[in-house]
Amino acid sequence: MGELLRRYWHPFAAVAEVDELGIKPVRLLGENLVAFKSKNGSYGLIDRQCPHRRADMLNGIIEDDGLRCSYHGWCFASSGQCLEQPFEDIANPKARFKDKIRTKAYPVEAKAGMLWAYMGPQPAPLVPNWEPFTWSNGFQQIVFADVPCNWFQCQENSCDPVHFEWMHRNWTSVLKGDGSYGPTHLELAFEEFEFGHIYKRVREDTDKDNPHWTVGATALWPNAFFLGDHIEWRVPVDDENTLSVTWMFHRVPADREPFVQERIPYWTGPVKDEKGEWITSHVMNQDIVAWVGQGTIADRTQEHLGKSDWGIVMMRRSFEANMKLVEAGEGDPKAVIRDAEFNKCVELPIKHKELFTASMTLEESRRLGDTLQYRINRPDYQHQVGQPEAVKREYQIAMGMIPEDATETI
Ligand code: FES
Ligand SMILES: [Fe+2]
Repeated sequence: MGELLRRYWHPFAAVAEVDELGIKPVRLLGENLVAFKSKNGSYGLIDRQCPHRRADMLNGIIEDDGLRCSYHGWCFASSGQCLEQPFEDIANPKARFKDKIRTKAYPVEAKAGMLWAYMGPQPAPLVPNWEPFTWSNGFQQIVFADVPCNWFQCQENSCDPVHFEWMHRNWTSVLKGDGSYGPTHLELAFEEFEFGHIYKRVREDTDKDNPHWTVGATALWPNAFFLGDHIEWRVPVDDENTLSVTWMFHRVPADREPFVQERIPYWTGPVKDEKGEWITSHVMNQDIVAWVGQGTIADRTQEHLGKSDWGIVMMRRSFEANMKLVEAGEGDPKAVIRDAEFNKCVELPIKHKELFTASMTLEESRRLGDTLQYRINRPDYQHQVGQPEAVKREYQIAMGMIPEDATETI
């Protein structure tokens, strides 16, 4: 599985985060690394330990074109090449020992406010330019959560329509004590396509003319859930930990156009409260509760799958097939993009696209959202707990909910 995942780019940090920190520890696909931004503006992702005598590069010194180990001053470019070894360069310059030293390094690219890493064989494919990344006039934010379980059970949740009814609708009612249950699912369909798996559904309150059926939702290959205005990645930290990364887009109201975001804010939400209990108040937190509840690595031998799980069966088969393909060296696996022209805008099925792209007042977007049963553009971040006040303020100003000079949010 790791070999397959290494054929894809993975978002691992926010651009603004590494811009501010300079150096950030990163654990990705079971490897300990450091991300850094050189003074010349380029990003790097290299081995956490220095190849000299294993000092921690997190304590490194940022240079014009790389990161210098603070123990004995060896300096490394983002390519991993050693550029300088201060004492060796003086003591034995002719040996050019530095030319023989290279630390482990992976390519990094910035896109949609996130830094992406590619940890597989060269040549690297392109970072997918999913259509929503091309939209304008949007307030974007990057939201993280550290999830202590394997990524794959998180991703299986991306192709699991019935959990919306129970976990997000009915369980929320139970937790709030209001006793009402939501409309039940009557029919499901699952399809595989070039970039993942789509599920479609009919509930008691919807029919086959509804976008829930005509468009559906996408489990985006290999490890994301695609919903148009937001994409959630389940990024494998190692076998027992996942970094949840959400890219969120809010179309600003017509009177706030043109809107250009200089810096895309980021934040990490908690998964447990101060008493150490799992947080269940928001949709993403409920999902996290489900994922970790399945065990650190869910034991599939003890499952009993039904018709609602057909999408998960399809996904598992696709992973099997693609792992075999990579093992056999038979070319690119599913959804690898190498065509730059095609990658200018990779379209995916999007429900309620007008809500995210059309020029409307705030009230119009909310009204249309309510009509479409997609609650949108509220003052609070709806999906995950813990949005910092500063990000909330930035969002509310961008959306015209509070004036530019407001010190308090609503
Ligand atoms: S351990 Fe890094 S320079 Fe010596
Ligand atoms: Fe969910």
